[in-house]
Amino acid sequence: MHKFNSIISVLFFLLLLLSCQDNTEKRYTIGFSQCMMDDVWRQAMMVEMNIEVSNYENIDIIVMDAEENNQKQIRQIRELINRKVDVLIISPNESNNLTPIAVEAYRAGIPTIIADRKINSDEYTSYVGGDSYEIGKMAGQYASSLLPDSATILEIWGTKTTSPAIERHQGFIDGLDKSKGFNIISIEGKWRREIARDETEKLPDYENIDLVYAHNDVMAIGAREAIIKRDSSLIPKIKIMGVDGAFGKDAGLEAVADGRIDASFLYPTGGDEVIKVAMKILTGQPVEKQYILEGTRIIDKPTAQTLLLQSDQLINYQNRIEQQRKNLESIVNEFSILRHSLILILLLAGLLFLFSIYIFYINRKIKRRNSQLRLKNDEIEHQKQQLIILNEKIKEVNDQKVRFFMNVSHEVRTPLTLIVSPLEKWIKNVQDPALLADLTRMKKNTDRLTRIINQLLDFQKIESDKTQLNVSNKDIVSFTSTVKSLFDELAETRNIHYSFTSNKPSAQLWFDADKMEKILVNLLSNAFKFTHDNGTIAVDMHCYNEKISISVSDNGTGISKDKLPLVFDRFYTDSSDNKTGTGIGLHLTQEFVKMHGGKISVESDPGKKTVFTIEIPAGKHHLPEYSLMENQNEILESGAESIIDAEKTREITGRKYNYTVLIVEDDQGIREYLSEELSENFHVLTAENGLEALQLMEKQTNITLVLSDVLMPWMNGFELCKKIKASPVLSDIPVILLTALGEIDQRMYGIAEGADDYIRKPFHIDYVKVKIIRLLEERRRLQRKFMQTMQTGGIPIIENDKKIDSSDEIFISQFISLLETSYAKTDISVEKLSEELNISRVHLYRKIKEISGLTPVDYLRNFRLSKAVELLDKRRFSVSEVAYQTGFSSPAYFSKCFKDVFGMTPSEYMEKK
Ligand code: FRU
Repeated sequence: MHKFNSIISVLFFLLLLLSCQDNTEKRYTIGFSQCMMDDVWRQAMMVEMNIEVSNYENIDIIVMDAEENNQKQIRQIRELINRKVDVLIISPNESNNLTPIAVEAYRAGIPTIIADRKINSDEYTSYVGGDSYEIGKMAGQYASSLLPDSATILEIWGTKTTSPAIERHQGFIDGLDKSKGFNIISIEGKWRREIARDETEKLPDYENIDLVYAHNDVMAIGAREAIIKRDSSLIPKIKIMGVDGAFGKDAGLEAVADGRIDASFLYPTGGDEVIKVAMKILTGQPVEKQYILEGTRIIDKPTAQTLLLQSDQLINYQNRIEQQRKNLESIVNEFSILRHSLILILLLAGLLFLFSIYIFYINRKIKRRNSQLRLKNDEIEHQKQQLIILNEKIKEVNDQKVRFFMNVSHEVRTPLTLIVSPLEKWIKNVQDPALLADLTRMKKNTDRLTRIINQLLDFQKIESDKTQLNVSNKDIVSFTSTVKSLFDELAETRNIHYSFTSNKPSAQLWFDADKMEKILVNLLSNAFKFTHDNGTIAVDMHCYNEKISISVSDNGTGISKDKLPLVFDRFYTDSSDNKTGTGIGLHLTQEFVKMHGGKISVESDPGKKTVFTIEIPAGKHHLPEYSLMENQNEILESGAESIIDAEKTREITGRKYNYTVLIVEDDQGIREYLSEELSENFHVLTAENGLEALQLMEKQTNITLVLSDVLMPWMNGFELCKKIKASPVLSDIPVILLTALGEIDQRMYGIAEGADDYIRKPFHIDYVKVKIIRLLEERRRLQRKFMQTMQTGGIPIIENDKKIDSSDEIFISQFISLLETSYAKTDISVEKLSEELNISRVHLYRKIKEISGLTPVDYLRNFRLSKAVELLDKRRFSVSEVAYQTGFSSPAYFSKCFKDVFGMTPSEYMEKK
């Protein structure tokens, strides 16, 4: 690029030089000192000079008019000397006076041309002028030829001190025929018409004058005027002659042609010749000392007329030449512009050429670089591919690790369940205080282990971005108070002053109960972990319009200032503290808070006060749409599942029920434990996996409920559930899934497959019992209610506090009209119903469950039963006919369902009626 720049600069310099080329051609200045300008002869001389000058482009001419003043002319010549003109032309006024300055110029080294009049020295370069003596002589001879002897001649002189006057006089005298004895009268007209006229007028008489000889034409005209003035009759008799024969208004040529004067003698101006000589000098050519202009001759009337004509023509030509010259000048200008343009174009072409070379060069360079880059790119691409492969491997290994991690957690949870449940039973029953203390400690530690396992699973989910929020609108004050109360007992044992305050008795907040419970339990566990016995722990809530703030403060060991910013980091544990942890509790807490759009902060004055504060924004706009489980009728288990009213539980679990529960569990330990426990309340059947369970269900028609594990060989819990719900004979049997995975999406999957509920491992056996009993009781209650509603012509909807809105009403009536048209078909399934309604199976499940409290399958079955009752009441069909007409797959199955709901078989019902 540098090189290119310098090339450009050189080119521009050349361009500049070329464009200035013309200006460098040497110009010359010619100085012209003219003794006078206001007479026609000298004007003609000027015209000739200018024409000649115009032939040269490099000539400037300075003309100075001395107005017949010697001193003035001397001054002007000196000025021209000072201006260092290249050539000086002097047409001197009076020879004597002007000689010194002319010599001075010559001596100053200025080539000096003397024109027309002479000086009294030969110190000049060249003289150019007519031959005045010869003219005078020619005039003398002519006069002699015209005049008789003794005739009188009036000679009118030019200025007597000027060379032409002297020479013209001398020539005239010499030219006269001496033998004729002419009489000569002399006056001085000083080259001027008026002076000549005045001087003539002064003469006493003209009678004897035969001829007037004036040294120039204008004086001849002046003399004529005087004669006419005195006596015009004298004019034809007196011959008048002048000198010059110049063209122009009132000049000699015109005067001869029109007869005012009789003859003139041509005295050439030599204007062109003077310039030619000057140019010779300037161009270094040799010049003559004298150029005497030729062409001196007499001009009589015919000659004058011819010459005048010629001069007019000449003037005409001159004008044309001048016009041509101007044209030429403009052409030359144009040419010069064109020449410059051409130079410019050539230069630009040169530049373009250079530029294309440069572009070519750059292009080559770019191409080379491009190919290098391409190579590099290929290399990078190759590396990238390798990285992708490596990454996939890492991902696979990681996935394997995660799977392993999950499986281990699952493996740990199962034995934990088997430890916790018997432990709880023993704690309830044992009397020995020492043993009770041991058992309680064991329970505490298994709880801790459970919490750690849960945290690990949560952590893993957060790390793999699998955690989702499931928020619903609940009273956060009562929720917090409940969670707080989980630690009441612990506080009491450790004599810790444990308090809860809230500025409002209740406040609705959109939150995920499971996660909120974890947040609070974590903060409280921490507080209890680091607070000494007899210390203070406080939970303080502040409900504002825009947010809820919950702070957990304690006066425990606290956190030093430098550690404060680290407490929410992953795997942070305080090494100075012997109470170690996994280091993920607070990190998880922070993540859960963030998921709610909130923030968590901590302040600590170790040993005095440590406060963790969480702030959750009110409203639901900041929460992702998917997370909103609006009006979810607690399909999902709340985090407070452990909080069961002990009294009520005892009452419920103390009874025997006429239900048959099928336990499907691959782990022998859990299966046996469950079987043993549930046998206390129900008839129990067991299967080791889904497949075995299905086979059993085909044989055993009295199964009321299936309690199934999820992860099992051969057929897992989801598949089993799906099969049951898809079977026309089994679909009415409720399914509860036991899951160790704790995955919300797994739970959703379970529900989507038609599971009626789920229980998370590790479970409390009482909770399992209560859940089974409540589900079956509630179901029965709802079925009865359904029937009643149907029989009274109403729409069966759930009976709770919730009001269904108009969109729900529209939906349920659409659903019912669909059932009206399809209940008689045995092959109608939830799948088909949802397709007909153009919604997903999960959506249909949720909607129907939300509105009616029943699953779509139960709803359909109850609908069929209600139709069956109507038909039975008409007493026109047999039980079998009614069964088939209402879409039941067999009369036996119809009877079973009927009995489930009405407590009697259809035949018994008919009989009773
Ligand atoms: C004009 C003039 C001419 C004459 C010449 C001689 O000034 O008088 O008429 O021929 O000068 O120098």
